[in-house]
Amino acid sequence: MTDVVFSRVVELAKRHGSVGVDVVVEAALYGPGGFYETGGAAGGRGGDFLTSVEVGPLFGAVLARALDEWWEEAGRPDPFVVVDAGAGPGTLCRTVLAARPACASALRYVLVERSAAQRARHGERIALEEPALAFAPVDPDTEQSAAGLATGPICVSLAELPRVAGPAVVIANELLDNLPFALAQRHEGAWCEVRVTHRPDELVENLVPLDEEHTALLERLAPDAAEGARVPLQDAARHWLRDALAVAGPRGRVAVFDYAAATPEMASRPADEWLRTYRGHARGGPWLEGLGTQDITCEVAVDQLALVRPPASDRTQADWLHDRGIGELVEAGRALWREKASAPDVAALTARSRVTEAAALTDPAGLGSFRVLEWRGI
Ligand SMILES: C[S@@+](CC[C@H](N)C(=O)[O-])C[C@H]1O[C@@H](n2cnc3c(N)ncnc32)[C@H](O)[C@@H]1O
Repeated sequence: MTDVVFSRVVELAKRHGSVGVDVVVEAALYGPGGFYETGGAAGGRGGDFLTSVEVGPLFGAVLARALDEWWEEAGRPDPFVVVDAGAGPGTLCRTVLAARPACASALRYVLVERSAAQRARHGERIALEEPALAFAPVDPDTEQSAAGLATGPICVSLAELPRVAGPAVVIANELLDNLPFALAQRHEGAWCEVRVTHRPDELVENLVPLDEEHTALLERLAPDAAEGARVPLQDAARHWLRDALAVAGPRGRVAVFDYAAATPEMASRPADEWLRTYRGHARGGPWLEGLGTQDITCEVAVDQLALVRPPASDRTQADWLHDRGIGELVEAGRALWREKASAPDVAALTARSRVTEAAALTDPAGLGSFRVLEWRGI
């Protein structure tokens, strides 16, 4: 446990008697000495286990095709603003641009990353511009940007979602599972909040009655939860979705890629299955131990997000990638490899690696079982 995070949580617990799990997760991931503030074991989750983005360039190449489809559907707007929320070190941006999407000349790619350590890496391999350039005024009649803009792609890096009202495409890969969440437990026929309190030399969980608003929410979402069942309360994810829908605007969209489940399903499973920790390429220890030294993540409660607005579509990542043409990209990779196999260059090796990347990205027991939730502007 890093002393800084431990001391901070102890201080809060002493002051308030106990602290919510969301406050502890916030401190452990994003506060001073927190997992993402110190860069994680090796620069965030990529160093501790692989996100789809970090598997290789194929995920970004498929997303580039999706962006082109959405750009065409929207009538080829210029600028075409894409917001990558929870951008980590910027790998998705690099792989999307490397795939040379047709929308590139209109593209304004906005990396949004709250961790200063991760944000500092954006400029290392991406040519960043002034944020104002991504949000140049648009003529309301033609929907085109005012004359005089440099042509895209223009990439900018921000610490939080921009305060603009679309139109934009907002994407978030493995962000929502990393937002702070509270915990509730069914106890003696009622819902209680799991909080954290301080004993000499250790932090321990305790139960207090849950407030009325969240009790009503859980009576509605998980009325049959058994004694002892635990569920997450994902207010931060709901707030994020509200903000993201506002940024997307009436003609935009929001696409969330993550591991997800419904609240009653989580109530029926052991909590350590959906509240997980990761450290050094493997599952970490109990969530309250080693605060700041391990990633803490929670499956995304789809039904809690749907209270903000039900998603227009909800598919597995494997289905989404197939629908977006991952098979064609793999075939093109195989063909290039065959052509250059006798004297392979970097492009041929990258093309060949698509086969193994596609297997990992669509694995039904792994990344392929992730969900892709899409919301359209209304
Ligand atoms: C698990 S990583 C995913 C990174 C990247 N999207 C990927 O797929 O490899 C989650 C990232 O979201 C960032 N993050 C967490 N909360 C955020 C917020 N409210 N706004 C922007 N970034 C956030 C974290 O600092 C972390 O870098």
